[in-house]
Amino acid sequence: MAIAAEDFRYVTELVRDQSAIVLEAGKEYLVETRLGPVATQVGLPSIAALVADLRLRKTPGLVQKVIDAMTTNETSFFRDVSPFEHLKKRVFPDLIAKRKNEKRLSIWCAAASTGQETYSMLMLLKENFPELASWNVQYLATDISTQVLAKAREGAYTQLEVNRGLPAPLLIKYFKKRGLEWQVDESLRSMVTWREFNLAAKTWAPMGSFDLIMLRNVMIYFDLPTKRGILANMRRFLRPDGYLFLGTAETTISVDDSFSSDSFHTACYRLKAA
Ligand SMILES: C[S@@+](CC[C@H](N)C(=O)[O-])C[C@H]1O[C@@H](n2cnc3c(N)ncnc32)[C@H](O)[C@@H]1O
Repeated sequence: MAIAAEDFRYVTELVRDQSAIVLEAGKEYLVETRLGPVATQVGLPSIAALVADLRLRKTPGLVQKVIDAMTTNETSFFRDVSPFEHLKKRVFPDLIAKRKNEKRLSIWCAAASTGQETYSMLMLLKENFPELASWNVQYLATDISTQVLAKAREGAYTQLEVNRGLPAPLLIKYFKKRGLEWQVDESLRSMVTWREFNLAAKTWAPMGSFDLIMLRNVMIYFDLPTKRGILANMRRFLRPDGYLFLGTAETTISVDDSFSSDSFHTACYRLKAA
């Protein structure tokens, strides 16, 4: 299904307004391949009919389907490896030492997609820091897409998905076969609060304060003012001695100079005052 120029413009503005995701000229093919199935799903004959419906009614349900379709949800278990090494060798030992009196850790995964990053982190904690079993570990995982959150909550993955980055011993230990899929054990699933949250929202409701924030591979979709706004908000919710992880291709440099790099090898940052 091809998209007309003014329909493409309408979709890019809608997506930017609702999610801050920037779709540049030349991304018509992406909109066509992502919105064609949405049109079919809601019983409309073409993308033109879908856009006409959006213009006319802008029903929240349909807008959400469009936003869901236009997000890129690429993720995998232990993605990029080195951030998880840094978490294991430096971040958690440091946080556990600092929080040994309060025995409380608060973690936020802010673009959680289908959950592999969250479950990787929880397996890492279980495997390497058994002392946390008696701690109050709070884990919040959010995303703008209701569709990916439903899958994350379910924690069920295809063979292909578990083949991407999940070591076999962890698969055997923390997953159960469910039909053709592998489902994460309830003991891990019950540790997570999954919530819909738009990083591009103008105002952020109080979220609590976090020792560790994972904000990986999402800022690449935003323009500079949006990145600045998000990092300014993150500063409010990160404890002064906490850690912030971005994706490998992302940085706070030239975006927000209140952060400094914590590692040459991973995009791990801390507040300068820490
Ligand atoms: C490429 S995935 C990254 C997943 C995971 N953090 C990782 O690094 O593997 C990007 C995620 O960001 C989410 N996202 C995009 N725009 C967002 C927004 N405005 N607010 C919250 N999440 C958003 C998408 O739905 C998608 O699941």
